[in-house]
Amino acid sequence: MKIAMIGTGYVGLVSGVCFSDFGHEVVCVDKNPAKIDMLERGEVPIYEPGLDDLMARNVAGGRLSFTGDLAEAVAGADAVFIAVGTPTRRGDGHADLSYVYAAAEEIAGALTGPTVIVTKSTVPVGTNRKVGEIVRAARPDAEFDIASNPEFLREGAAIDDFMRPDRVVVGVETERAKTVMGDIYKPLFLRDFPIVYTDLESAEMIKYAANAFLATKITFINEIATLCEKVGADIKSVSKGMGLDGRIGNKFLHAGPGYGGSCFPKDTKALARMGQDHAAPLHITETVIDVNEQMKRRMVDKLQDLLDGSFNGKTVAVLGVTFKPNTDDMRDAPSLTLVPALIGGGAKVRVVDPQGRREGEGMLPGVEWTEDPYAAAEGAHAIVILTEWNEFRALDLDRIAGSMSSPRFADLRNVYSREDVVAAGFEAYVAVGR
Ligand SMILES: NC(=O)c1ccc[n+]([C@@H]2O[C@H](COP(=O)([O-])OP(=O)(O)OC[C@H]3O[C@@H](n4cnc5c(N)ncnc54)[C@H](O)[C@@H]3O)[C@@H](O)[C@H]2O)c1
Repeated sequence: MKIAMIGTGYVGLVSGVCFSDFGHEVVCVDKNPAKIDMLERGEVPIYEPGLDDLMARNVAGGRLSFTGDLAEAVAGADAVFIAVGTPTRRGDGHADLSYVYAAAEEIAGALTGPTVIVTKSTVPVGTNRKVGEIVRAARPDAEFDIASNPEFLREGAAIDDFMRPDRVVVGVETERAKTVMGDIYKPLFLRDFPIVYTDLESAEMIKYAANAFLATKITFINEIATLCEKVGADIKSVSKGMGLDGRIGNKFLHAGPGYGGSCFPKDTKALARMGQDHAAPLHITETVIDVNEQMKRRMVDKLQDLLDGSFNGKTVAVLGVTFKPNTDDMRDAPSLTLVPALIGGGAKVRVVDPQGRREGEGMLPGVEWTEDPYAAAEGAHAIVILTEWNEFRALDLDRIAGSMSSPRFADLRNVYSREDVVAAGFEAYVAVGR
């Protein structure tokens, strides 16, 4: 199969690399020339564990290449995947589909033979059909089919998720599209990973419903955590006791500072807008969005209490600013609420993050970046764990407490136990839901 992948971000690049590893001939396209230059030099523009090796192997095998020239990639391709961004549209919460529609226009102009145009980006119900209309209007002569193939990979575990998915969802209208998609995913089908074939609208809806459900689960446990703090229960035990129930499951039941990232915030908002537009309001999703905002602000209050009511003149070491470990993605990370609140309140903030600096420098003005958590903590009034990178899971707490001005610890990912923290000499410890 010859595949063109339009957009080489977190999803497009991982998908393109993995498809080439399946044995397909893949050309990845991006309109950002700096990205293409890096990729052509063999450098990966994002941090994703294992991606550099897999990419190098498939480039060397002659199955994977990169270009800024969309027409060159689309000509002769059996399938063209659209994997461009669908961020929140400024002002109204809808998904911004301008990149998807622009890509559809460009693809239309470049179509040569029979091709399946596949949308991998997360798009509201009806978008695939609109993509088809755009292409048809621009090229009434072209032979093409439409398919919806939403992506479920998680940053930080993206290759494994792509290669060993819980399921692949494919929305199609024609047998020809189904056959091409079946051929593309054959290596997974042969290994018994389920492929759910459905219509375009259902495929689009599956992605939003899945993300909104997971965001709801996180928000639910965060609210229970708030109540645990008031009544003296321990959220870690509560999550464990709940998660062992097979009907509930233990995933996405870890209390924390509120969800962030490149998907949940924008996808919950887009789904809520979809409900409003169709007079079928999604009250649960709307409440989840509100409660998650409150959760992030609650973390600011927690920190303020820890620092005797004021950030002014305090030095705070923040460990982890990416939205989760094993990614450099900062989009909608809780750090973007917490760190500006600290700085706005007069604190000096030192930040340590194994991969966050490149993205984070522009997004967190006024912070001091350091490489080492021990250096960050020296002379500080508080340390905060905001992202649970492995690097922060086995800190020498005695050494940290001994070097701080006033050893106080906000463990917003519940990594440590109160006993260990107190035994190490910290005078105050706050966590979430304990
Ligand atoms: N990031 C995730 O974990 C994840 C997971 C599942 C689904 N998704 C969905 O996948 C889509 C892509 O997300 P992402 O995080 O990879 O986005 P991203 O912002 O990292 O990458 C998008 C890329 O597309 C490029 N692009 C935009 N228009 C283009 C065009 N016309 N031609 C060529 N390149 C173009 C941009 O330059 C950019 O490099 C979104 O809809 C997102 O919701 C993301």
